[in-house]
Parts: sequence; C-alpha cells; structure tokens
Amino acid sequence: MINDLWYKNAVIYCLSVESFMDANGDGIGDFQGLARRLDYLAGLGVSAIWLMPFQTSPGRDGGYDVSDYYNVDPRYGTLGDFVEFTHGAKQRGIRVLIDLVVNHTSDEHPWFQEARRDPGSRYRDWYVWSKEKPDGANQGMVFPGVQKTTWTYDREAKAYFFHRFYDFQPDLNTANPHVQAEILKIMGFWIQLGVSGFRMDAVPFVIAKKGADVSRPQEQFEMLRTFREFLQWRQGDSIILAEANVLPKTDMDYFGEDGDRMHMMFNFQVNQTLFYALASADCQPLVKALDETRTRPQTAQWGLFLRNHDELDLGRLSERQRNQVFAAFGPDKDMQLYDRGIRRRFAPMMDGNEDRIRMAYSLMFSLPGTPVLRYGDEIGMGDDLSLPERQCARTPMQWSTEPQAGFTKSTASVLRVISGGPYGYEHINVAHQRKNPESMLNWMERLIRMRKEAPEIGWGDYRPVNADQSGVLAIKYDWRNNSVLIVHNFNANPVEVKIDAGGSEEDNILIDIADGTDSRADKNGKHCLCLEGYAYKWFRVGGLDYLLSRAEI
Ligand code: NOJ
Repeated sequence: MINDLWYKNAVIYCLSVESFMDANGDGIGDFQGLARRLDYLAGLGVSAIWLMPFQTSPGRDGGYDVSDYYNVDPRYGTLGDFVEFTHGAKQRGIRVLIDLVVNHTSDEHPWFQEARRDPGSRYRDWYVWSKEKPDGANQGMVFPGVQKTTWTYDREAKAYFFHRFYDFQPDLNTANPHVQAEILKIMGFWIQLGVSGFRMDAVPFVIAKKGADVSRPQEQFEMLRTFREFLQWRQGDSIILAEANVLPKTDMDYFGEDGDRMHMMFNFQVNQTLFYALASADCQPLVKALDETRTRPQTAQWGLFLRNHDELDLGRLSERQRNQVFAAFGPDKDMQLYDRGIRRRFAPMMDGNEDRIRMAYSLMFSLPGTPVLRYGDEIGMGDDLSLPERQCARTPMQWSTEPQAGFTKSTASVLRVISGGPYGYEHINVAHQRKNPESMLNWMERLIRMRKEAPEIGWGDYRPVNADQSGVLAIKYDWRNNSVLIVHNFNANPVEVKIDAGGSEEDNILIDIADGTDSRADKNGKHCLCLEGYAYKWFRVGGLDYLLSRAEI
C-alpha cells in the first residue's frame, strides 16, 4: 500500500519541453533534449516529472490551447520521441505526469472549425453557443485586464461562443456525453504511451455547468468520479492532480468523501498564506490554512508549491495582507499581474537572499503534501520582466556558461535566455553549481533526499506545535510510531524559542536530521532552540531507545 500510493511520498518536477533542452539545434527545446537530461533529473532525486502541454498547438497560451490532443507538436519532436522519453524516465524510476487541458480547445482545433462552419455538424454541440450576447458576458474573466469578455461573437457561426479564458480558447461543452467520452479517450491514449497520470487543467471550469442561462457556478462533481474510475481501470497506479483554486469548504467535493474523485490537488490556500507569512513573519493565517485544508481522504494528497508557471495568485488574501506581499515581493506595477498577483520567479522575489530562499523551500518540502518544484528553481533562476504576462518566468533552463546557456546550439534561441545581471546564465547555471557542494543545486538535492526519507510528512498526521515566539512555525508529524518535528524561523533575526514537542523528559530527544546533533527537553518537557535568522530545522523525535538504536548503527 505504501509504495502503491507513490504520490504520497514523491517529489514532482514541473517543466515545459519547449524551454528545457534543445537537441536538434533549432532553438526550441524538444523531447530528445529532455531525454538527454533525464540523468540530471534522476541525480536531483525527483520521483515524477510533470510536463506542461506539448501537444500540437498554435502556442498562444503556452500550449494551453491544444489543436490536436493525439499528437506531439512537431516543434518538440514526434510521438516516437515521446515514447523514447517516457521509456527513459521509467528506466530511471521516474514517473511522467502530463497536462490534460480539456476545459477548452484552441480555436484552430478541427472540432471548433467544423462546429463554427456547420450548424448541423456533430461538433456544434461540443462547444457552448448563444444567439444573443448573454447578460453575464463581461463577468468571470480569468485574466482581467487582458481578457475583455467571456463571450465572443463568431461571424462564421453567427453566434457567440463561451470562453472562460482567452477568446482563442473556446470552452468545450463538457456536459455533452460525446465530449466526456473523448476526454476519457485522450487519457487512455497517453496512458498507453507511458504516463502515470495527469495534471488536470482548470478543473472547476471543466465540471461547471456552462451556458448563456447559467448565472452562478454549479459544479457537476460526479464527473470527477467518472474520470478517476476510467483511469483506475486502465492503469491502477495512475493519478489525477487537479488544478482547482477553490475555497477549503469545497475541498472534499473535489477529493470525494470516499476518496473516489481527485487523487491530488494543489493547495492554493496554503500557497497564498505562505507568501504572506514570508512577507510578514505572521504565521497565523498559514496555520489557519493548514487547519482548513486538513480534512482529506487517507489516499488523497495535497500538491505544495511556491511558484508555478502562472502568476502567484494572491486573490484570497485580505487587501491588507495582499498589499503587504506586494510591497515585500512585487512592489512595481510591472511585477504584478491581473490585479491579483505577482509574476516574478521566486529567487528575485526574495532578492536573491539564499538563506531566505532555502528556508522557504525547506518549508514547502515539509508542509503536509507532496512538493512540486518548478524547473530552474533548484538553481535559483530569475525572470525577464520585459516579456509579456506570465512569459517572464518561462525562460530557457540555464545549463552552463556556453552561449544560450547551453540550452541550444543555435546561435539564436527562439526563447530569450536570461543574460547579464545577477540572474544571467553567466552566473546562475547548472554547470557551476554542480562543482560547489554548498550551491543551491546541491543543497536542493540534499533537501529532496531528506524529504524522501521522512515519509511521516507525506503519510502522517500533523499538528502545529506551540512555539513561544511569533514568526516561528513548528509542525509535528506522527506516523507509525515515528515522529518528525520541523521548525522554521520566518524572522530575519536570530531567535531563541521554547518548543514543547510532546512526551516526557526521558522520552523527548530531538535529533537534527541534517547534522545528527541532538537536543534534550528540560524538566518541563520543553526544548530551548537557538535559531539563526531564516533558520530551518528538521528533527526526528525520540526517546533514549531511539538514541541507542542510532548508536548501534
Ligand atoms: C491554467 C494554466 O495553469 C494556465 O497557464 C492557463 O493559461 C489556463 N489554465 C488556461 O488553460
């Protein structure tokens, strides 16, 4: 059971083929390039790779506008290259998850082309139409400021079509049984080609009732069970990781009371409050978010992340909290996006402060769930704010000091490599960091090992432990008579903190997992810890027996 539910103790690495490694020298990343970098990823220790969309696409929304679900975009290679890649990953014990983007298609998809051309076409009802402009057409935009409406008139169809996202992404009518059957077929296809599951895009919108007459959101949660059932029948250990930025009160609707819907969901609630905690050293909202998202089925799991390929969405914070995060991490207007978030990469947000960056990653890896790391963050890559919207944080991977960061042999990368300044590839690259044991890269490798060796975090029950200092968060995990206690100092300054890890004086020893030093509780059962600014400590909790058994080792 423990190994079967592989995602409970996994480390997921998210990348886009386009920006990772170019093998054929045309300036665009491809599957052959990615396959050559599998040993790098295996060395880093990741358990699974999440690939952003790579299917045929006009590429107007980073591939989230698919025009053929059953193919690899020719820029990235062929289906054959894809299978070579999944095979290579499997050989190294790495699983592959891929994006499943079925809320909408590209407007260039043949289904949409036929639907708009011919009202009698079987594809007409695969999309969502209205003769008149619906009342709510100017509401519900996901990209406010850039996207003007959710209903756009199509001259050829002589009707308005619904699009939750950009106007080149018409929504599929997911209530249509033929569309549902096609979604299953798409999943089945990629499962056959070696993937272990899907990061399902925009889940609340996929299952929402759609139409001109819909005025408030109504989700058809049962659809999620259909997806899961199909997947489990085809391949028992495959999973769905849902992108659902929803309120905690609906979490169980997505996981399913019986654990029969989504296997994993990204924890957006924790993500936002975590950034607030980093900005303010006030951990209370984060503790509250952890509490609110505690209830979940035994087999379910949260996906935890710091930054992803989108903007850091701060929409759920209060205005005061959001402004505090903006002030700390994205004060300039061009660092912000969609009136609710920050579009920067993580390292520049932290002003390159390595202690603070490491503390934040240690936190992400030790919160209840499975960490999802974004490519380039393991070396502290930066962003290029001269690129539009979310593109700024999607620049090519920085491998070396060779021209184009070693990403491509082409003299001009199609994507712009970050060059010059503190985050330029001349300074920040894999080759440099491999040689330095104290580099971010080698530190990350150690962190990943530490996380994998503490299955209590993925499996166990957790509770915040009382620390008598504000700005210090201590969490204890218990699982199968083992416990770990993890402490983070959000303050820039050193603090002395008293922590009650539970247990009696004789049975209360903390062993630092990183360096093996130990701390014993005082007569009141408390540990007095001196923490440097932005310190993080991972302890195993035990009694004398535990110490003795270690001595034997
Ligand atoms: C969510 C994805 O993360 C984002 O990048 C994309 O633009 C939208 N869904 C639309 O597919």
